Amino acid sequence: MRLTSKAAAGVLVICFGGPVAASSEPALTFDQGQALAKQMACLGCHQVKAKRVGPGFIQVAQRYAGQPEAFEYLSQMIRKGGRGKWGAIPMPAQTQVSEQQAKALTQWILALEP
Ligand code: HEC
Repeated sequence: MRLTSKAAAGVLVICFGGPVAASSEPALTFDQGQALAKQMACLGCHQVKAKRVGPGFIQVAQRYAGQPEAFEYLSQMIRKGGRGKWGAIPMPAQTQVSEQQAKALTQWILALEP
């Protein structure tokens, strides 16, 4: 009896272990993402909907829609800074943002819908 339930538990772990480990970051809700963007001082230069100093995050989502490599590019760009994509003003490197936070922010930005 015990052995059987342990074996069953083992199978469950194998079944559910895969997909959970494969999804790198849990997606943030809109509010969680906005709170993180605020905490990381992104909102000093960005708004969700409209251009401020930098592009609105929804405009970013629209620009990179359907481009699978955008996730990797943007999550690195946030920490290193960028220039020349949206206008004359460059974005300074955001060194206060961890790699994981940058990925979470990128995922949140790319999932925004107008
Ligand atoms: C000092 C102002 C400033 C801050 C702070 C700032 N940004 Fe930016 N951001 C910009 C500007 C300006 C651009 C446009 C750069 C360009 O033309 O390539 C930009 C561009 C971007 C882009 C689009 C990049 C591309 O290559 O298309 C993303 C995504 C982005 N910012 C995310 C963030 C996030 C997330 C944070 C917070 C961790 C943040 N930004 C903080 C000014 C800022």
